[in-house]
Amino acid sequence: MLETVKYLIGSTGASGYGSKSTAEQVTENCPDIRSITAIITGATSGIGAETARVLAKRGARLVLPARNLKAAEDAKARIVSEYPDSEIILMALDLSSLNSVRSFVSEFESLELPLNLLINNAGKFSHEHAISEDGIEMTFATNYLGHFLLTKLLLKKMIETAETTGVQGRIVNVSSGIHSWFSGDVIRYLGIMTRNKSEYDATRAYALSKLGNVLHTKELSLKLKEMKANVTVNCVHPGIVRTRLTRDREGIVTDLVFFLASKLMKTIPQAAATTCYVATHPRLVNVSGKYFSDCNEASTSKLGSNSTEAARLWSASELMISGDSKAVFDPLINGLD
Ligand SMILES: NC(=O)c1ccc[n+]([C@@H]2O[C@H](COP(=O)([O-])OP(=O)(O)OC[C@H]3O[C@@H](n4cnc5c(N)ncnc54)[C@H](OP(=O)(O)O)[C@@H]3O)[C@@H](O)[C@H]2O)c1
Repeated sequence: MLETVKYLIGSTGASGYGSKSTAEQVTENCPDIRSITAIITGATSGIGAETARVLAKRGARLVLPARNLKAAEDAKARIVSEYPDSEIILMALDLSSLNSVRSFVSEFESLELPLNLLINNAGKFSHEHAISEDGIEMTFATNYLGHFLLTKLLLKKMIETAETTGVQGRIVNVSSGIHSWFSGDVIRYLGIMTRNKSEYDATRAYALSKLGNVLHTKELSLKLKEMKANVTVNCVHPGIVRTRLTRDREGIVTDLVFFLASKLMKTIPQAAATTCYVATHPRLVNVSGKYFSDCNEASTSKLGSNSTEAARLWSASELMISGDSKAVFDPLINGLD
């Protein structure tokens, strides 16, 4: 109850920011980021587009991978019309395809650019059951597995950049408070809904993918510490905001729900604030493996803080990106195919 009141009045937390802070406000006093190269996924609309706009305003060089290059051109044009000196590189990437992730990374490497900041923001909420070209349920493939592989393949470049520049690299995973709606066996449910359309529940699938982002953050932060890499990883809940995430359900009912909930929702500049805060704020040097909401550290669900589950999902993900999802699912759901 107290938390809801704090949220509604926008009261600030230990960071000095709160639910009503905007991305521009939280980056006002950030260190000079004109030498920073950032990759932001899902910057064609919504929270990602605002994150890109504000980081461009602060002078970062942006690489914006997108599956829809026309939408990416439009997003770039909007930023350049406001900030003509921005350096923005557009590249093709469909996160639901592991091949596309691999092609993007090799194309990015061929540019020989540094990489200081990776913002894994792209996401989808899919009302219909679908399977990716790699044989994985589509929401999970897009929101989690594509980002898992992308991060893994870009890590060497981020570690090298941090070593040569002395500037700590940062990875920001955009999750959601909805991650806490999932309970149960993560990998078993993924296998069941991948193989059985009738078991698909769109909200549960979305919650699972966002829990995946939280667990990925936890395990990756451990691995980065073990490697003594000068790179941190944190995840964020941006808050609830109307974007194109609900595009499959546009119409009068959705309009009504959003109207009724409007007092509880953020604006897009507010929703991009936590990502921008975690991506740039000097206060967060050496802070890794944490979850942030309203620009302040927050708690994940019990499952989200389970290190055994985080390690288990990591191992399963390694198998999935190597094309062996059978080895992941068969022992858990034999007889359900
Ligand atoms: N909106 C909320 O209330 C809310 C709450 C909590 C968390 N989030 C999270 O915030 C993040 C941003 O969402 P948003 O609300 O800003 O939604 P959005 O406006 O729909 O933006 C999603 C972005 O992801 C991109 N994307 C989707 N599938 C992709 C794919 N296969 N490959 C590459 N890019 C893909 C979209 O590109 P296209 O232009 O090609 O579609 C778009 O740029 C997501 O991770 C979402 O889960 C949102």
